[in-house]
Amino acid sequence: MTDRRKLLVTSALPYANGSIHIGHLVEYLQTDIWVRYMRACGHDCLYFCADDAHGAPIMLRAESEGVTAEQLVARIGEEHRADFADFGIEFSNYYSTHSEENRLLASDIYQRLEQAGHIKNYPVAQAYDGEKGMFLADRYIRGGCPRCGAEDQYGDNCEVCGATYGAMELIEPRSVLTGSVPETRESEHYFFHLEDFQGFLAEWTRRGHLDDQVSNKIQEWFEGGLRDWDISRDEPYFGFRIPGTDNKYFYVWLDAPVGYIASYWNWLKQHQGDVTLEQLREQWAEREIHHFIGKDILYFHALFWPAMLKGAGYRTPEKVNVHGFLMVNGEKMSKSRGTFIQARTYLDHLDPEYLRYYFAAKLSNGVDDLDLNLDDFVQKVNSDLVGKMVNIASRSAGYIYKKMGGELAPALENPQLYAEFVQAGEDIGKAYEAREYSKVCRQVMALADRANQYLAELAPWSLAKQEGTEQQVAAIYSQAINLFRVLATYLSPILPVLAANSQEFLGLKQLDWVDLQTPLLSHRINKFKPLMQRVEPEAVAKMVAETRD
Ligand code: 2FM
Ligand code: ZN
Repeated sequence: MTDRRKLLVTSALPYANGSIHIGHLVEYLQTDIWVRYMRACGHDCLYFCADDAHGAPIMLRAESEGVTAEQLVARIGEEHRADFADFGIEFSNYYSTHSEENRLLASDIYQRLEQAGHIKNYPVAQAYDGEKGMFLADRYIRGGCPRCGAEDQYGDNCEVCGATYGAMELIEPRSVLTGSVPETRESEHYFFHLEDFQGFLAEWTRRGHLDDQVSNKIQEWFEGGLRDWDISRDEPYFGFRIPGTDNKYFYVWLDAPVGYIASYWNWLKQHQGDVTLEQLREQWAEREIHHFIGKDILYFHALFWPAMLKGAGYRTPEKVNVHGFLMVNGEKMSKSRGTFIQARTYLDHLDPEYLRYYFAAKLSNGVDDLDLNLDDFVQKVNSDLVGKMVNIASRSAGYIYKKMGGELAPALENPQLYAEFVQAGEDIGKAYEAREYSKVCRQVMALADRANQYLAELAPWSLAKQEGTEQQVAAIYSQAINLFRVLATYLSPILPVLAANSQEFLGLKQLDWVDLQTPLLSHRINKFKPLMQRVEPEAVAKMVAETRD
């Protein structure tokens, strides 16, 4: 086996003001599959996430619900944890950015950046709602488009003509919060001087930390020079106070990625007791860091984040893996079409393994959007998993169980075929590591076709009608069960429940890739229980109807 790698993997931190939906799940499932594969290879692979708890939207939502931001964040955090757990996502730790660890870390990183001269401050003029006593981000201001005159447009761009502008250029701008006319006010802001990292980032973004497609696309960001990043917000704001100020807060995007490290710190404390900030920095530096994100937040992860880490003397990421968005039936997810499906609604109607498989079958390492076509979903899961995979075991198990007392034959009927199946694991493993899961699924299904073809050609059920063929028939069925074991092992990062059920059926303590070298001979298996149910199209229809309501 190759050297045991120390990996630290993350998925983007979901905001703590809304539910997890199937669009989010693309990323968590993509990451979870990668993590499970890496663990199956024997690597020391930790997987961290947390709720992204700060910012104005969370503060305002809590206010409108009549609860504190802390209460809202605690409630949503529980909901998120349950959704992820029920989809089989195995975090090492799921934490919150509103934590003491994160406050200490964000402050530490900020102070190191400041000491190194990367922080500047100067006044900024911004829209201010005098009634609410709060500066307004663009999304909290609406008015007429200064270009085409369309009414009720957001403060940064027009949905009708596509114009972009400053919020105060709107015709009759209004605060969304109070309906009052916003005024322009100045206040002092703090900035991260990204330009200092121009050379480092130009190099970093081309050194294999991003896939080529992504790296090529972002080179244009460097063309006009890198602009200062505004990292402060005025009160009222739900977040961490900036050290050395009494009324400035870190912008949520400053402490959000720091939450990756905070989640790790919290995990370290659970496992090692007291761990100081210094020890944490050392342990962070011992691991290869792999982030998984959507393409909408690439700027933060490919520029700000590596620059922050570099400037503060923390280890920078090994890899930022970027995926596209989820479409449903070829269109953007939509509530009215019933396709804005919440994770919990899905779980109320369908088996999570179906979605794990379907997304895997559609995922490559590119940034193209992927489409969940609901008819294709039913058809593909039923045909691949139930029709091809599970069928190999269900056709073969009965004979072994009834006629052979559950014991597999002492020798393989076709060792060559078995060896080919084991050999295929090399390519399949490479595809997993490269996040080419669609390739994994295609290769495993091609093998499943061969296993079914093998059974069809040798037709042990016909052979069984003749006298004295018992050993031969048992050898054929045993061969098929051995092939099934190989395939269940290959799919185990994608389908952990199918893998666990298969393991029990096969009477094994584990489904491990390295064990595949040794076929199961004269080995006792258990009574076959259906390993997976067919997807019922009615269940999908109900889920869509419930989403539409
Ligand atoms: O875009 C989002 O949903 C953010 N909450 C992601 C944060 S990822 C990380 F940087 F914290
Ligand atoms: Zn317009």
